[in-house]
Amino acid sequence: MAEKLTKDVYILGVESSCDETAVSVVKNGREILSDAILSSCTEHIPFGGVVPEIASRAHTTAIDMALDRALKEAGVTLQDIDAIAVTYGAGLLGALLVGVSYAKALAYAEHKPLIAVNHIRGHIAAGYLNSDLKPPFITLLTSGGHTAIVQVDDYTHMKVLGSTRDDAVGEAFDKVARVLGIPYPGGPGVQKAAEAGQNVIPLPKMLKGDHSYDFSYSGLKTAVVNYCHNLTQAGKELPVSDIACSFQTAACDVLVEKTVKAIKETGYTTVSMGGGVAANDYLRRKMQQAAKKYRFQLYAPEKRLCTDNGAMIAAEGYLQYVYTDHRAGLDLNASATIPDFIKEYV
Ligand code: KG4
Ligand code: ZN
Repeated sequence: MAEKLTKDVYILGVESSCDETAVSVVKNGREILSDAILSSCTEHIPFGGVVPEIASRAHTTAIDMALDRALKEAGVTLQDIDAIAVTYGAGLLGALLVGVSYAKALAYAEHKPLIAVNHIRGHIAAGYLNSDLKPPFITLLTSGGHTAIVQVDDYTHMKVLGSTRDDAVGEAFDKVARVLGIPYPGGPGVQKAAEAGQNVIPLPKMLKGDHSYDFSYSGLKTAVVNYCHNLTQAGKELPVSDIACSFQTAACDVLVEKTVKAIKETGYTTVSMGGGVAANDYLRRKMQQAAKKYRFQLYAPEKRLCTDNGAMIAAEGYLQYVYTDHRAGLDLNASATIPDFIKEYV
């Protein structure tokens, strides 16, 4: 990257869309100089999910500290930063507003360009961090809010081949965790339970007979919920590990299947993974096996880069800074939803 530039570029990335307050300094779009993450995760556990008001308050108290840490760890000052990138959506509105207001204030006070980053594009850009990933490639995007197969043609242009028609895969993991009595955050807990179980519970095949790249997780989720309710009503104990394993297998195998289909049909030879569910060990193992079998190169970012972080926002901010003229104004607002994460720059 940075083919166009002769000097090093330092981007500050600010992320506050959910329960992580994250600030990071990234050099030339790939090298993570610092990655400060302060999470309010434990405060949400008693409620079984993220409480927006608690998340917003936690961001306001954590964000100063996150910036201090990020600058110190990176060994830079705000004067060394070329641009400030911030997640403006999608996510929890109150939580996003903290990061957006903070980044706007920094940009104004320090006379730095402001770059509005779509959280989902950030998850895709995480593939560039600490790696030599170059477009074109296929991304398997699996987070709490999105599930998609994306064809990335160059650093700024991409096309969605398919996405979920209802729930996201991460959402399904979280819901299944809840019915199994696994505490928030559900995904890692389901993975852990699945390790002790077997894939023995029959679950419906997703979108039977469908040849698109789309996904649908609501049927699978409901099947698990009903299975659990029926057992509970009959006074039987839930085979938690077997349910977790059967669900995880069904949820992940279809992701691998459709990624392989994309590789075969596009002729692309590289795949990257992004989003929280990409931290799942079963999914990573299956993708590695598929990469061997179907001979594609797989880029699976370190697990900490799959879940929310500031470095991925800086990485996407870098792409906009270098390859586009898109700069956000001080009228930038947060947006809880963004209908088209591929086309929209602010
Ligand atoms: O990308 P992310 O951190 O936040 C969003 O943008 O949504 O993804 C969070 C999602 C949650 O649903 C969480 O349960 C899931 O990623 N997740 C996992 C694992 N780690 C996080 N799901 C399955 N296995 C994991 N190890
Ligand atoms: Zn995310």
